[in-house]
Amino acid sequence: MFDAAAQYRALAPEIDAAVARVLGGKQYILGPEVEAFEAEFARWCGATHAVGVGNGTDALRVALVACGVGAGDEVVTSASSSPFTALAIAMTGARPVFVDVDARTYTMAPDGVAAALAPRVRAIVPVHLYGQPADMDAILALARPRGLRVVEDACQAHGAEYRGRRVGTLADAAAFSFYPTKNLGAVGDGGAVVTADADVAARVRMLRDGGRADRDRHVVRGVNSRLDELQAAILRVKLRRLDEWTERRRALARLYRDGLASAPVELPFEAPWARHVYHLFVVRSAARDALRGRLAAEGIDTLVHYPIPLHQQEAFRAPAALPNAERDAAQVLSLPLFPQLADEQVARVCRAVVAG
Ligand SMILES: Cc1ncc(COP(=O)(O)O)c(C=O)c1O
Repeated sequence: MFDAAAQYRALAPEIDAAVARVLGGKQYILGPEVEAFEAEFARWCGATHAVGVGNGTDALRVALVACGVGAGDEVVTSASSSPFTALAIAMTGARPVFVDVDARTYTMAPDGVAAALAPRVRAIVPVHLYGQPADMDAILALARPRGLRVVEDACQAHGAEYRGRRVGTLADAAAFSFYPTKNLGAVGDGGAVVTADADVAARVRMLRDGGRADRDRHVVRGVNSRLDELQAAILRVKLRRLDEWTERRRALARLYRDGLASAPVELPFEAPWARHVYHLFVVRSAARDALRGRLAAEGIDTLVHYPIPLHQQEAFRAPAALPNAERDAAQVLSLPLFPQLADEQVARVCRAVVAG
């Protein structure tokens, strides 16, 4: 599903130089590499501010807190996502409220959001799942008249576009993850909040560093979630390749589409508003587990994102019937897709799926 070493080998001289620069420097946490990466990543997104944090979960959590979310509030999100989306909401003290997803895009269904807008709802977290933006215009049309904040979960969607605009610029703030397997991955944990709102950016900067206003004065209870210099220096190297890697992901997705045209699986739907960045290439099959078993027998790794919808997770259990999310949990299968994958490897996966 992923080859971390292949990504390193492709960039070894530049990454080694970046690491040496940090180790020989004066600061290992929140120093010049983080500052430079923040500026470069914000520019790459087409946004004004990026603030580096320890991981994507904390990015979402502090972005929500910076937008005023806290205990007693409810935050509406999609039932089909990483459990870390729900965890980030819960860590603010708010209660996650799960809504169903669109049957074709796997992203939050706006009519489900409309039905969930109870008085305590303070914010909405659309998830750009698998690399495809949610239907942001419909979601913002619900949020804006009610004064609700909207924070994008862009952890799987670096560089994805909604009607020509990159994710990270579509709402009040956005959370990115740099977990190693992400489209832009560190060699450990990392994350960032991206926003056009200078107040939100300033609050995130304070929150990520313990909630202190200066070295000695802690004015709010923040978190300790800082991006380190090594990760930032390596992310800077990889950011320069990200557009090229996204093109490669999209080319591999096209190969899959051609190779699987006659296969007994449902292919990903690229919405008319979307430029999908294929963090994952997810197919749907009523016989998912049998297919997965056959592929495994041929030495082909696959994963399931995600086998348990969030409203049925023990940690977040909520009484709801969300039929699309429940069906997807039983039927989705992620096939291998990462930029270093060879065309022939995709062809081999296709042959194995078609034979099923
Ligand atoms: C949709 C989504 N949200 C949030 C996260 C959390 O990111 P991290 O693992 O960097 O905390 C992830 C990744 O795991 C994710 O895929």
